[in-house]
Amino acid sequence: MKDSNFLKENNARRLWHPMAHPAESLATPPDIIVEAEGVEIIDIDGRRTIDAVGGLWNVNLGYSCQPVKDAISTQLNRLPYYSIFRGTTNDNVIELAEMLAAFFAPDGLSRAFYTSGGSDGVEVALRLARQYHKIRGEGGRVKFLSLKKGYHGTHTLGASVNGNANFRTQYEPLMPGCYHTPAPYTYRNPFNETDPERLAQLCLAAIEDEIKFQDPSTIAAFIMEPVLGAGGVIPPHASFMPGVRALCSRYGILLVADEVITAFGRTGSWSGSRHWGVQPDLLISAKAITNGYFPFGVVMVSEGFAEVFEKDTSGKGAIGSGYTYSGHPVGAAAAIACLQETERLQVHLNASARGDQLFAGLQTLMARHDVIGDVRGGHGLMCALELVSDRAAKTPIDKKTITRVHRATYEAGVMVRVSGNNIILSPPLVLSEADVTRILSALEVGFSSL
Ligand SMILES: Cc1ncc(COP(=O)(O)O)c(C=O)c1O
Repeated sequence: MKDSNFLKENNARRLWHPMAHPAESLATPPDIIVEAEGVEIIDIDGRRTIDAVGGLWNVNLGYSCQPVKDAISTQLNRLPYYSIFRGTTNDNVIELAEMLAAFFAPDGLSRAFYTSGGSDGVEVALRLARQYHKIRGEGGRVKFLSLKKGYHGTHTLGASVNGNANFRTQYEPLMPGCYHTPAPYTYRNPFNETDPERLAQLCLAAIEDEIKFQDPSTIAAFIMEPVLGAGGVIPPHASFMPGVRALCSRYGILLVADEVITAFGRTGSWSGSRHWGVQPDLLISAKAITNGYFPFGVVMVSEGFAEVFEKDTSGKGAIGSGYTYSGHPVGAAAAIACLQETERLQVHLNASARGDQLFAGLQTLMARHDVIGDVRGGHGLMCALELVSDRAAKTPIDKKTITRVHRATYEAGVMVRVSGNNIILSPPLVLSEADVTRILSALEVGFSSL
């Protein structure tokens, strides 16, 4: 490693950071993280902080998960790469597909299509959705519906169903045929409705209205996160996702669950769909599938969907999607070890208990700090604080102020994530009770700095 003077001197000078303005990165260079242990990260100055971001919603088992590390290094020495395009495969992807089919059986999902990450998964799922309809002779079903505030990665199709202008405007024109409906976001919504259940019904009515307006026979799929994540952790009322499922079934529309952050226990249930008692047609996962240690993802396919492809004799079922790194043997080895550890530790139970503790603590924090306009959570280890400069007017806080909270919290020993006027918390699922207390204390310091 180059010495710290060199690294600090050159920080952000020759690289552009994703999701950041290059000029801003130059003006305020990012923290240089050089080590990690357990649920903590360590920066170049030796400062240890609890990583309440959990990498990027992916390091569910923390940074010291030896079985995943061992699986990666063993596999690198045995078979570092081979393609699984038509004609060849590897032992790990076969074993992993069996494990995933068992894990996702309660979600009605039984086939795996491997990808290199979440955005790839979104792309593949939406392409397969159109293909499914074409095979069945409903080739007019090409449109996609999604929720405002949804995040589905940044490939062009994903950005087109994405529900946040930040990821869209500079890249327009996006894909035609993508339409958005209101999110079940109780704090701010076009209906001025504060009751979550009534809001869910209004949002469902808006979806049905859009389906009828577009003409159901033109719509391929509805894609949604079970709990809106990057858009600000927005858990819907329990009736919402089942309501979307019912509408999709009624109008012959496929339901694609984007579980890039919710699969493998984050909501306190093994999948976000299961959390709401819903079976999707397709489910996208990535991130925690390898604990973030290797870029890997999967699109899980339901039995009925799979049959359409597997029984096709017209040739239309041939899959024209795939990546060089689809089914990477090292990624698959990491995923096998990660799934074994995830199940052995039953991390969804800890996510639920620690999530309740964190949510309750954040509500207490809100009672003390007027700058907190809304606290969201209550479904595992995903929470958000929405900051406002005026509670009554709900005016979003300015960037400078939220950055101050972030900095003071970091200096008090906890890394949190800022997204717009939200502070987002998505810590590893192996967090202890004492860790949650530390996160809350550091946030208290952060807010008291204002
Ligand atoms: C719900 C959801 N979908 C898709 C993605 C994109 O995944 P990736 O960044 O691995 O491409 C993300 C990333 O945060 C996500 O949260």
